[in-house]
Amino acid sequence: MTDTIPDLPVTRSCPFDPPDGAAEQRERGPVAQVRLPDDSTAWLVTGHAEARALLADPRVSSDRGRPGFPVPVAALARNRPTNMNATLIANDPPVHTRLRRMVIPSFTVRKIAALKPKIERIVTERLDAMIAAGPPADLLADFALPVPSTVICELLGVPYSDHEFFEEQSRRRLDADGDAILKLITYLHDLVAKKIENPGEGLLDDLIAEQLAEGRLDHDELATMGMVMLIAGHDTTANMISLGTMLLLSNPDQLAKVRADEAAVPAAVEELLRYLTIAGTLTRQATEDIELGDVTIKAGDGVLVASAIANREESDELDVEHPMRHHLAFGFGIHQCLGQNLARAELEIAFTQLFRRIPTLRLAVPVDEVPRRPMALLSGVTELPVTW
Ligand code: HEM
Repeated sequence: MTDTIPDLPVTRSCPFDPPDGAAEQRERGPVAQVRLPDDSTAWLVTGHAEARALLADPRVSSDRGRPGFPVPVAALARNRPTNMNATLIANDPPVHTRLRRMVIPSFTVRKIAALKPKIERIVTERLDAMIAAGPPADLLADFALPVPSTVICELLGVPYSDHEFFEEQSRRRLDADGDAILKLITYLHDLVAKKIENPGEGLLDDLIAEQLAEGRLDHDELATMGMVMLIAGHDTTANMISLGTMLLLSNPDQLAKVRADEAAVPAAVEELLRYLTIAGTLTRQATEDIELGDVTIKAGDGVLVASAIANREESDELDVEHPMRHHLAFGFGIHQCLGQNLARAELEIAFTQLFRRIPTLRLAVPVDEVPRRPMALLSGVTELPVTW
């Protein structure tokens, strides 16, 4: 029986599509078993309704320290850092609730709306520089990466002059031999120490003044939280800008609709998020028996939510005018992306300005020759050659 269980689908042959084997997995039902790299089995949730139900279920844990917590990619097991006790995504309530409450006020729709002029300025400056230097250009290095990197640095109060270091470590964080996460935590630890001595402006400084000083957060927790926001804040958005641009350039009819009416950009952003679902496999463990679909997930079983597959349940067509209402590109439930309002604002401003200012933008190489990142759980490119 066990040898009929397929491997967890993670490899994406096409950068725009869910992992290979998605269709076969869906045929096996909305919740079905898969085999993980360590030869254990877990449940893969591919149905949209089932995925939402599972992610909202209080009987699942996100605590990566639990025995038997599923490891979908082998490199993650080798590289599990020792001190991840303060990352939001690796914690359950009540610790998760305490940490999330400290940072959520900085990411509300209102707070992000107030940040938009700054994002506009950063996007304009990057485009000015890229246009002045090109064509051609590497859209990742010249635009898609520096924009969210600069924005998250300003928001957190991290010096952008250190961007090469943290971008490189962030890229290397899943390397088999890497100590990248440790280097990043040490960097944040030192930065927090400097800020305690010499306060500046930003979310880290606010957290020092309001939480650390009051004893509600310790130095390690703050460093780890800062690291997660720094990584999550630039890497995901950079991938969405690059892959989103690639996808639109590969679908001229859809791009024409975006260009025809800038008011259509927010809907297009939602559709790009759904279609690409770059963070497409979310990891949990059942803490109690859970009936889901037509199976019983036993307490202790690993559960992987295939959001990239679930988001294509309704349609495999890209349709920028009709985005799906409840897509899972930012997850769902208590761990739903902290930075989603920020990411949306960055994507809207980036695409609007990019296509307005460079109407003749096109890929400089065929789409299947764009170098891809090897990281299975987060799709993206390592370079995006464009010209105009
Ligand atoms: C387009 C860009 C982004 C995408 C696609 C994305 C995707 C996601 C997803 C799918 C999750 C849920 C993971 C899970 O439930 O297992 C998540 C959580 C998270 N994201 Fe994002 N994200 C993006 C941008 C950002 C930004 C800009 C930040 C900036 C701070 C950020 C910070 C976080 C944090 C801290 C969590 C963990 C939240 C928690 O556990 O409570 N993300 N993100």
